[in-house]
Amino acid sequence: MNEIRLSALQLGELELMRAGAYGHALRYDLPGKGSHSATLLVPGTVASAGLTLLDTEATPIARVRVLETLPGDAGTWVGGLVEVLREPAAPPFAGLRPTAATAPVSDATLLLGRRHGRLDGTVIVVDSADAHALGQTVRGLRTDGLDVRVLPEPAAAHVSGADRTELLEHLASVVFASNVRVIRGEAAAPGEGLVVLFTGLSGSGKSTIARQVTRRLRSETSQRVTLLDGDEVRAMLSSGLGFSREDRELNVRRIGWVASQIAAHGGIAICAPIAPYESMRAEMRELAERVGRFVLVHVATPLEVCEARDRKGLYAKARAGEIKEFTGISDPYEEPTDADVVVGRDGSSPEAAASQVVAQLLGTHEGSYTI
Ligand code: ADX
Repeated sequence: MNEIRLSALQLGELELMRAGAYGHALRYDLPGKGSHSATLLVPGTVASAGLTLLDTEATPIARVRVLETLPGDAGTWVGGLVEVLREPAAPPFAGLRPTAATAPVSDATLLLGRRHGRLDGTVIVVDSADAHALGQTVRGLRTDGLDVRVLPEPAAAHVSGADRTELLEHLASVVFASNVRVIRGEAAAPGEGLVVLFTGLSGSGKSTIARQVTRRLRSETSQRVTLLDGDEVRAMLSSGLGFSREDRELNVRRIGWVASQIAAHGGIAICAPIAPYESMRAEMRELAERVGRFVLVHVATPLEVCEARDRKGLYAKARAGEIKEFTGISDPYEEPTDADVVVGRDGSSPEAAASQVVAQLLGTHEGSYTI
């Protein structure tokens, strides 16, 4: 592999490197040389001596002359010299970031998480790739007349916990202020974005319940609600995909990506694919929770009931062997063990199931919805 597309945090790390946060050399080091150097972890193995770094739009922005590599659990660490090819697309609040070369101040507050209480002087907020939350925080602070700076969060995949806080503090002190005081706001909170995943067998009632939940949320909240129904997605976004494990994974990964984009901008995404594998649901949760809240709804209508209904006649075809790899018949459905809501097990109506889901969504997230 000689090209890699950088994640938002990897772009943040490159931005910091270019701003001199890691010293003047443009280089990646292998982890283990302390946490104050830039690192690059790429998926898979690295075969060539040159690696081209792409931004999120796949534009080449830098090249790495690879000097050393180190295999890790999640890929390969790369050490090498960086040559910048072109400016990446401007990040949000470009004028407030390290590369804007604003004059350093002597004292500043590094705000981790969301704002709370009164602050004054210069406040440094961290851009953790949640554009919605960042926008809210920066606008709020500026309205209060504060001098705001934006510190990109580096990938620094080998640094976690207290070391990560220490790294952010160090970077902030290099690029923005000599004395940095750390203040913890509320937990690194996402915006009000929400992803709801309905999982269950074909014919379990996912679409019917999801449609009703969508309708109710549209009338009961002020947020935008987008429904990504299984069959609709397969007709458009995933047309051409089949039902092998690989194709199902790709299908659900696409849904998860679109849903997270919606949540990242403060919206609600309601998704209703079968999503039969635990791993695909976990991946979707992980992606969604980076930008908002994730709620898993298991529509647990028993197989016998789905098969007896057989509205689309697919179960009969699957039993006759005319459809291969049919979920529940000749293909697995891994029951979720981490569902936030389980509906449909007792044969309750779609209306009752929808009410149960809406109650869960609105009740557990007080204050974020206008009911
Ligand atoms: S998923 O497994 O990739 O999440 P998805 O929800 O998109 O599935 O598509 C499932 C729908 O496709 C079913 O409701 C059914 O109408 C149709 N379908 C066609 N073939 C199959 C199959 N082999 N297994 C399951 N569903 C199938």
